[in-house]
Amino acid sequence: MALAINVKGLTKSFDHKEVVSHIDLDVKSGEIFGFLGPNGSGKTTTIRMLCGLLKPDAGDGHCLGYNILTESLLIKMQVGYMTQRFSLYDELSIKENLDFIARIYKVPNRKKVVAECVENLGFSKQRQKQLAGTLSGGWKQRLALAAAMLHQPKLLLLDEPTAGVDPQARREFWNTIHDLSAQGITTLVSTHYMDEAERCHRVAYMAYGHLLATGTIDSVIENAGLYMWTVSGDNLQQLAAQLREQTGIEQVTPFGRQLHIIGHDPKELAAAIAPFKNNNHEWQIANPTLEDVFISYVAKAKDNFA
Ligand SMILES: Nc1ncnc2c1ncn2[C@@H]1O[C@H](COP(=O)(O)OP(=O)(O)OP(=O)(O)O)[C@@H](O)[C@H]1O
Ligand SMILES: [Mg+2]
Repeated sequence: MALAINVKGLTKSFDHKEVVSHIDLDVKSGEIFGFLGPNGSGKTTTIRMLCGLLKPDAGDGHCLGYNILTESLLIKMQVGYMTQRFSLYDELSIKENLDFIARIYKVPNRKKVVAECVENLGFSKQRQKQLAGTLSGGWKQRLALAAAMLHQPKLLLLDEPTAGVDPQARREFWNTIHDLSAQGITTLVSTHYMDEAERCHRVAYMAYGHLLATGTIDSVIENAGLYMWTVSGDNLQQLAAQLREQTGIEQVTPFGRQLHIIGHDPKELAAAIAPFKNNNHEWQIANPTLEDVFISYVAKAKDNFA
């Protein structure tokens, strides 16, 4: 399968601090690829290097078949980039924003395309005149995505497109991304939401500028090599504090009425919890979640790279 993104060794420093370190990334055509990682891990910086907005200090590669170092203009014309912060013009109306973007990209049949876009978004004639800055978060996001799609890009780079958007609007957004994927359009999307990660074909997890894991959700969870017990019952806070003192236990995290207790060695883990098993609590072996895995990766990355 053809690759929409294929980069090796991408590296970038700001003020002598390396914020992206030797990133290799392959994204297949038509794939929905989730880009995850804590605040400041280097996701936005990587995305900006992919679409030619930022020159890497080292590394090379292709985006949509164009070289990221020498053909950035061609990449920019073919990519739909939705920036992390609302990138449209607050003081322009909904329709004016779309018209402006369509002019920049020299969209053929501009007036017709913009009119259809506004109609598809479901804005009434009256609402089309509303200033973009006065829209609610969900509507802003829908408008920004529509604007990023106006020139029919083959690749969408979406930087936290659903931050602060309600579940219904997020679901509609993800349905749209899957429809686009079925039409062969590739999406690389950064997010902090685990449910959104699970809607991607593959994900990459980044921390401290390093790519720590890449693959399907199942493979990322499996390759992490974590073992988990859950416990429910009384006085979980007190129990959590005691468990955190034990060797063989790496994470103790409250999840609703349960604790997730995690380690890398199943025997050590079982031995560590054995003294705490009693009739007041229910203990079960369970599968770690993606969030458990990511928290474990960040802890390890902190030791190695912070
Ligand atoms: N133009 C810049 N000048 C100086 N430092 C920068 C610049 N852009 C990013 N950084 C720094 O690079 C690091 C990575 O930032 P980046 O925005 O790529 O992270 P991120 O993973 O997108 O974070 P978030 O999830 O908060 O959006 C941060 O420490 C940030 O402060
Ligand atoms: Mg960011």
